[in-house]
Amino acid sequence: MNSIPRAQPMANSIFPLFLFFLFFHFPSLSPAKLRPDFYSNSCPQAESIVRSVMHKALIREPRSVASVMRFQFHDCFVNGCDASMLLDDTPTMLGEKLSLSNINSLRSYEVVDEVKEALEKVCPGIVSCADIIIMASRDAVALTGGPDWIVRLGRLDSLTASQEDADQIMPSPRANATSLIDLFSKYNLSVKDLVSLSGSHSIGKGRCFSIMFRLYNQSGTGRPDPAIEPRFREELFKQCPHGVDENVTLNLDSTPYIFDNQYFKDLVGGRGLLNSDETLYTFYETRRYVRWFSKDQSAFFKAFVEGMLKMGDLQSGRPGEVRRNCRVANGQSVII
Ligand code: HEM
Repeated sequence: MNSIPRAQPMANSIFPLFLFFLFFHFPSLSPAKLRPDFYSNSCPQAESIVRSVMHKALIREPRSVASVMRFQFHDCFVNGCDASMLLDDTPTMLGEKLSLSNINSLRSYEVVDEVKEALEKVCPGIVSCADIIIMASRDAVALTGGPDWIVRLGRLDSLTASQEDADQIMPSPRANATSLIDLFSKYNLSVKDLVSLSGSHSIGKGRCFSIMFRLYNQSGTGRPDPAIEPRFREELFKQCPHGVDENVTLNLDSTPYIFDNQYFKDLVGGRGLLNSDETLYTFYETRRYVRWFSKDQSAFFKAFVEGMLKMGDLQSGRPGEVRRNCRVANGQSVII
């Protein structure tokens, strides 16, 4: 099981004492042991319910499953896979929904609500929102033509969320390969994991907002990123002209509804949308994986599944619960 880096290490002298009290008062603090059959007695229909709601979402709005799949990344990197990113703000807590990377960007929260409602009807209080994110992300990939795999379950939902942590941790679309390698390594995720997991951009869309600097002022030069292939650059200029509504969206790869290795072929051709994508091809340490995955889709699928399982194991060890409503901790009242 992967544990995640802590923001502020405690002074060595009081740490053992602190741990003792924490464990004593909160037995659920020790990270849950995750296993595939976690709900096999308590809610045997859990996996089929999640799959069927995701299937309906795909038919209703094809992009929505990509949007839900992104949740796994934004959840697991910020204090572990604990559905903290699903919590709405409260008068006393600024949640993660309005953090820099999430505001006007994360979407389709209602699909998770639908999954949760369907599960609560059949097995009330049993399946955590954190596990829903993990199952739904896997289903998004499987339903769009990607690999299918067995997920480990048994996570708890957080009692709180942190906008500050999300702001500090989540990478920008401007990020370069070195900073991404560094970030992923803090979670014991390798260079190969970084490249394969970035292959999630095989489905879904991004906004002009995320590429304006790249198109018009890369690294403060007042010019576009030279790594963008010229014809693709012209297309991007047309779709995101100066003064455009920056919420206009573009495909992340040329087959945005199919989970395949086209994303890597596009990177090799200089047609990656985000700087954080194309940098994986321009940087020598990541390039070999991009090349490999562009030629061998099954190698990509295998590496992607490994990466998703590793990322899904990130846990904070903090106390948790099974939320009844994914947007609100159980003790809090729902604000309408
Ligand atoms: C490596 C670092 C990453 C960066 C810098 C990054 C950044 C972004 C950005 C900027 C967008 C478009 C957002 C917008 O313009 O509103 C996006 C979309 C997306 N990201 Fe990432 N991402 C990264 C890794 C990942 C990972 C690991 C996953 C999942 C495993 C993921 C899944 C997605 C998906 C599916 C979308 C499309 C969502 C939609 O259509 O609503 N990303 N990402």
